[in-house]
Amino acid sequence: DAGVIRRDRFSGGPARSFLSSLGADERIFEADLEVDRAHTVMLAEQDIVGDDVAGEILTALDAIEVDGHDSLPDGEDVHEAIETAVIERIGAEGGKMHTARSRNDEVAACIRYRLREDILEAIETTLVLRESLLEAAEVNRETIMPGYTHLQPAQPTTVAHWALSYESAVRRDTERLLEAYDRINESPLGAAAFAGTTFDIDRERTAELLGFESVVTNSMDASSSRDFLLETTQALSTHATTLSGLAEDVIIFANRGFVELSDDYSSTSSIMPQKKNPDTLELVRAVAGDASGAVQGLTTTLKGLPRAYNRDLQRATAHAWETVDAVTEASEVAAGAVATATWNADTLEAEAGAGFSTATGVADLLAANGLPFRTAHELVALAAERGAGYDAIESAAADVLEEPLEDVVDPEAVETALDPAASVASRDSQGGPAPETVADQLEAARASVSDH
Ligand code: ARG
Repeated sequence: DAGVIRRDRFSGGPARSFLSSLGADERIFEADLEVDRAHTVMLAEQDIVGDDVAGEILTALDAIEVDGHDSLPDGEDVHEAIETAVIERIGAEGGKMHTARSRNDEVAACIRYRLREDILEAIETTLVLRESLLEAAEVNRETIMPGYTHLQPAQPTTVAHWALSYESAVRRDTERLLEAYDRINESPLGAAAFAGTTFDIDRERTAELLGFESVVTNSMDASSSRDFLLETTQALSTHATTLSGLAEDVIIFANRGFVELSDDYSSTSSIMPQKKNPDTLELVRAVAGDASGAVQGLTTTLKGLPRAYNRDLQRATAHAWETVDAVTEASEVAAGAVATATWNADTLEAEAGAGFSTATGVADLLAANGLPFRTAHELVALAAERGAGYDAIESAAADVLEEPLEDVVDPEAVETALDPAASVASRDSQGGPAPETVADQLEAARASVSDH
């Protein structure tokens, strides 16, 4: 049986399996049943299909659901296969189900229905990740660590400040996904092929039955636009990019002994018995490549498609499914890895001052005591070459300044500026790493997680 679509003329042939999306459509099997139900109920309410036939169709759909996707008859796609299955069960009257619609609006409705669920799951995982970052921040408010630029020691900071930096980025990822959700959550059903229908349908009603917030009004737009897929995949790809940076940081920190991943998120080597490798985070890092590739693939498929429906769209959908699955999983794994990692406060503290990372604080101190910042910068740079401690600063001052160092600044203040913990505590400008500033950020972040 070649299915119900023009079975006389298009019975199949060598391209049949190339044409068919039935296997991939398993993802929207449940969604299609829901769309069929909503459409059938609306057709009955509008007196387009009799209540008795509608009732039989709904009963058949329930039975088809119980039997599952694998029991569907052959078809070019799930829409055709389900319709065939309805007709097999209740006879030709089952064909009334497809009154006043097309597979074009049907598939668009199914994709949106299913993607809405998937994107909510992705959004939830971003919240779990944010909570695990907040937890790491909470317990490490005062855990001093080295901060880097260009991967070179730059200025001391805290684990809390680092964790909150990622929480902020993931917060924006949540927001982007929520925005994508709003535009997914609109109903294309009732657009028919693209050109509307002569039947007196109620599009608002099917939208309501399917829980869509509104209707995609223009019927040509409704059946042919996939910018919601692109926007969603882009938002997921952006989140994957955030995750890849987080993963890279933790991989580097693990390499330096700053953090230890739990065994659950580590792998070993088949030959080197001592190895504990951050493989899970390496895979998280790699997902950003897949997601970015999917955005590229999807954009290229959509680019230049004419109005209205074209079968290219069948291949567009898979990019979104693959991306939402991979990115949601990566986000979950990142959350778990962060939540179960152990921060080695002693190693972090010992390394916090490495590479004269307090140099900027010393220059700030000299500037606060009246030196032009550029002169202070030059003096401290010279001190860096001469060994970095108080003596080096004093010797550099002798070359750069006209008066001795202690006439410019209290030597004790210099010693304090050289201390990594004091250096962190002194950087209490808005958003800075000082523990009390971080406490404010933590509070705001907690409020925003519960807001979402
Ligand atoms: N399987 C198709 C898709 O995913 C359904 C729509 C087919 N419509 C058509 N006119 N051939 O896009």
